[in-house]
Amino acid sequence: MAETERFGTRVVRTARVLPAGAGAPVVPPLVQSVAFDHPSTAEQDAVFANERPGYVYGRYGTPTTSALETALAEIEGTDGAICFASGMAAIHAYVTGCGLQGGGRIVAQEDCYGQVRAMLERMRREQAADVTFVDPTDLAAVRAAVAAAPTRVLYVESISNPLLRVADIAALAQIAHDGGAALAVDATFASPALARPRALGADVVIHSLTKYVNGHGDVMGGVVAGPADVAREMRDRGILDGGYLPPHEAWLILRGLRTLELRVRRQCESALAIAQHLAAHAKVARVHYPGLAAHPQHELASRQFGGRYGGVVSFVLRADTRDAAFRFLDALELIASATTLGDLYSEVLYPAISSHRRIAPEERARLGIGDGFLRLSVGIEDPADLIAELDRALALT
Ligand SMILES: Cc1ncc(COP(=O)(O)O)c(C=O)c1O
Repeated sequence: MAETERFGTRVVRTARVLPAGAGAPVVPPLVQSVAFDHPSTAEQDAVFANERPGYVYGRYGTPTTSALETALAEIEGTDGAICFASGMAAIHAYVTGCGLQGGGRIVAQEDCYGQVRAMLERMRREQAADVTFVDPTDLAAVRAAVAAAPTRVLYVESISNPLLRVADIAALAQIAHDGGAALAVDATFASPALARPRALGADVVIHSLTKYVNGHGDVMGGVVAGPADVAREMRDRGILDGGYLPPHEAWLILRGLRTLELRVRRQCESALAIAQHLAAHAKVARVHYPGLAAHPQHELASRQFGGRYGGVVSFVLRADTRDAAFRFLDALELIASATTLGDLYSEVLYPAISSHRRIAPEERARLGIGDGFLRLSVGIEDPADLIAELDRALALT
C-alpha cells in the first residue's frame, strides 16, 4: 500500500488477502468475495472466455463452491459437477438445459418428488413441454415409454420420495441408452453413501444437497453431476438463470459432507429398527421401507445399496384420515413435524399438506399417498427414544 494513501483509502484497501505464511489450512478457506481482481485485462479476458481456469464474478464460479463441486464430481465419478442454490434449481436447470430445450422429450418417474412433478406438469401446461410419466419399477412400461418417441432424458429417483420405491439403475440405464436417451438419477434419498449411480450406468446424478449431503438442516443447495458437456451447459444455466450456489453455503455443505458416511450408517440402522417396529404396530396399516423383506424391491435394494436401505421410513396410519394424521403430528415432541429430510434430527412430513399439496387428491390416492400417509426421516438420536415417541403419538391416532 502506498505510504501516501489517506486513511479513508487505507481502511478500504488494507488486508484484502490473507498474509502469506507456512502451513496449509486443513479446512478449505471460505472465499466470500463476489469479485476477483486480475493482474491484467488480458488474463481477465482469458478467464471470461474459459481459456484458462479462474474466477471473475460470484455467479460464474467461486473458489469455495468449486471446491465442493470438485469433491462431488470425484465422489460421483463424473467429469464435472455444478452446484445450485437448491435441489429444485438444479433439477430445473437440468430439465430445461439438457432435456426439454428445443422441443426435447423427457420420460419421468410418476411418483417423483411432488414439486418436481408439479414443475414438469406446469411446463407441460404452459410451454407444451413433452413430458411422459411412468412407473420406473415397471421396466416394460419404461421401455415402451422411451421407445414411443425420440427421448432425451429418462428421469428417476434412486429411492423415491415419499413411496420409497427403488429404481433399478443398471436396467434403466440400459433402457435409456437403447432408446438414445440419457439416464438422470435424483439420488437425494440414497445419498452417495448408499450408491453412486454413475458406476451403475447412469449418465447424470442429481442431489438436493439440502438433505443428506449437508445433513444439518441449515443450508439449501443442489448439484448436477455428469459428463463435461452437461457440466458446461449447467455452468451456463447458473450464469444466465442466476441459481448458482453461493460460497458460504458451499463451505457449510463441504463440512457436512465430511460426516456423511457416519451419519447415514447410524440413520440406516435406526430406520431399519423403526420400520420393523412399525410393521408390527396395531395402529399402522402399512410400512414402506426397502429394508423390509415385504418391500417389492427388497432384493434389488439389497444388491444395489450393499445391505443398507436409507434413513427414511414411510407409513400409513390404520386410521387413514387427516384428523388422525394431525393428532399424530401434534403429539410429537422429540421428532420435528417439518418439511425436510436427511438431517441429523428426526423429522416427520405430511405429504398431503406439503410436498404433494399441488398434486390432485385423486392422483395422490392413485399413487398411494393418501390422508393417513406420513414420511419419517430418521435422525442420529438414540433409536429407543424415537420408538418411544412414535408409540406415544400413535396411541392418539
Ligand atoms: C428427492 C428430492 N429431490 C429434490 C428435492 C428438492 O430439493 P430442495 O428442497 O433442495 O430444492 C427434494 C426436496 O425435498 C427431494 O426430496
